[in-house]
Amino acid sequence: MIHFPSVTIVFLLCVTFLYATKIVDVETIFKEAEEPLFCSTFLKSRPHGVSGDLVSLDKYSIEYVHANITYTVDLIKKLNAQSRDINEEDYYCRCWTHFDLIVYYIVEIQEKTKTGDYTDVQWNADSIITNINNCIYGDSPGDPIFHDTSLLPKYLDVIKKIANIIAIVTIHLS
Ligand SMILES: *[C@@H]1O[C@H](CO)[C@@H](O)[C@H](O)[C@H]1NC(C)=O
Repeated sequence: MIHFPSVTIVFLLCVTFLYATKIVDVETIFKEAEEPLFCSTFLKSRPHGVSGDLVSLDKYSIEYVHANITYTVDLIKKLNAQSRDINEEDYYCRCWTHFDLIVYYIVEIQEKTKTGDYTDVQWNADSIITNINNCIYGDSPGDPIFHDTSLLPKYLDVIKKIANIIAIVTIHLS
């Protein structure tokens, strides 16, 4: 039998313990996601440099969706400027208002992730989803739905799905 110095054993036990608490089978994340197929495709198609642990997947998802949010704000401003009637203008203005909040929430997510306040991260991720739904469906039930034929619905859908992934990964980190 090989005799390790006890300090090595303690070190190994600590490492094993640390990893054991963070390792969640990524398949679990896929299954819990609102859209398992999207989730698995999204996380699996990450760049090679991003490792598969939850902290890295979380960070990657946050940076990715932040870029999408920034792009979407620009798109909404552009579409708003091109509005041809009052319905269209109302709709893009409403979405613009909600995206003001979404920009705030994604910055909060970044900050709270750094400090490990995962309950706040989850709350902010859920708020992103709520605000996207309000952008699409209006602020009160019965609001007429605007049939948007631009690229915006596709972007909103991606942001919603990734916000959901962030919320789920965060549950396993807390
Ligand atoms: C989202 O952002 C990523 C990263 O910048 C970009 O590659 C991707 O095309 C964007 N996709 C959508 C639908 O917003």
